[in-house]
Amino acid sequence: MRYRTFGRSNWQVGEIGYGMWGMAGWTGSDDAQSLASLQRSIDLGCNFFDTAWAYGDGHSEELLGKALRANPSKKLYAASKVPPKNRHWPSQREFSLDVSYPPDYVFEYVDKSLRNIGVETLDLIQYHTWEDKWLDDDRTNRTIEQLRASGRVQAVGISMNRWEPWNGVRAVKSGLVDAVQVIYNIFDQNPEDELFPACRAHNVGVIARVPLDEGSLSGMLTLESTWPADDWRSTYFVPENLRSSVEHADALKPLVPSGSTMAEMALRFILNNHDVATIIPGMRKLKNVEANVAASDQGPLPAALHAELRKHRWVRQPTSWSQ
Ligand SMILES: NC(=O)c1ccc[n+]([C@@H]2O[C@H](COP(=O)([O-])OP(=O)(O)OC[C@H]3O[C@@H](n4cnc5c(N)ncnc54)[C@H](OP(=O)(O)O)[C@@H]3O)[C@@H](O)[C@H]2O)c1
Repeated sequence: MRYRTFGRSNWQVGEIGYGMWGMAGWTGSDDAQSLASLQRSIDLGCNFFDTAWAYGDGHSEELLGKALRANPSKKLYAASKVPPKNRHWPSQREFSLDVSYPPDYVFEYVDKSLRNIGVETLDLIQYHTWEDKWLDDDRTNRTIEQLRASGRVQAVGISMNRWEPWNGVRAVKSGLVDAVQVIYNIFDQNPEDELFPACRAHNVGVIARVPLDEGSLSGMLTLESTWPADDWRSTYFVPENLRSSVEHADALKPLVPSGSTMAEMALRFILNNHDVATIIPGMRKLKNVEANVAASDQGPLPAALHAELRKHRWVRQPTSWSQ
């Protein structure tokens, strides 16, 4: 595992962090398997863990707490998120601060996350959705400053809506936030346009989420892939999206270096970008943890392959199913 500096915090975080949604939100999860995978990741050098109250109403946070207590001698960075009060993902332009993140509610949920994880201070708390227009309300600034001053959290970030990396550039430029979490992968390269330069200029830590495009960049989805009705992917990979995701992923197959996998190529593509501090693949299985940490050992892709993959940028707009 190689390490990178996380924005102005100066934390040294593993290039491969840990996405903890699936283990408490997707069907087919098993706590014993998830805890074993978390431990293996720690043994292999992972030290950045991304969870949220919304991942199983605190369950993913509780699993993280167990992992932290099992490794008291290691500095492990815990990042969680406050869910929007209206429980609506993604945020929409008309949502006000009052329906999404009124100040008392934010403090209430930070305290819930602290209790679930079993720590006195969180390294990072993130707004689980974001609208730049909330900067126009002074309470946003005050809440974020008070969160840091209270010692409940060391740093505050925003987790940006799917395919809207522009909607957070103002927050970065305002100097208010310490971190952004954004979708960035072979397909979704648009954070490079405006968001990453702003993060560089303001020394804001970048967390690259959904590096495997919710599974399509594992190369394992087919037109026949299905999910149980209560798995959110059944409402995300609707026929229109499944078809185009499989088509886009299939176009990459000839580019996978021999002896490698599409997932490894996808993670190493992100490693080429030095604006990114950590990548957080969702992982429940031991073999995925081992493979993904090994991608950091392999390092960035050769320039020629990276340049070829850049041509596979896929610009998408939020839709009724994109969530
Ligand atoms: N709004 C938000 O703030 C938001 C939204 C989405 C995600 N996130 C965060 O970002 C993290 C990552 O996103 P994600 O989990 O949605 O999607 P993802 O990382 O793009 O994909 C996760 C899927 O890839 C599989 N996988 C992982 N490593 C693999 C490998 N080496 N080979 C083949 N398959 C592999 C996982 O399998 P297994 O699970 O079976 O191991 C899982 O099915 C989340 O866990 C969460 O922490 C935040």
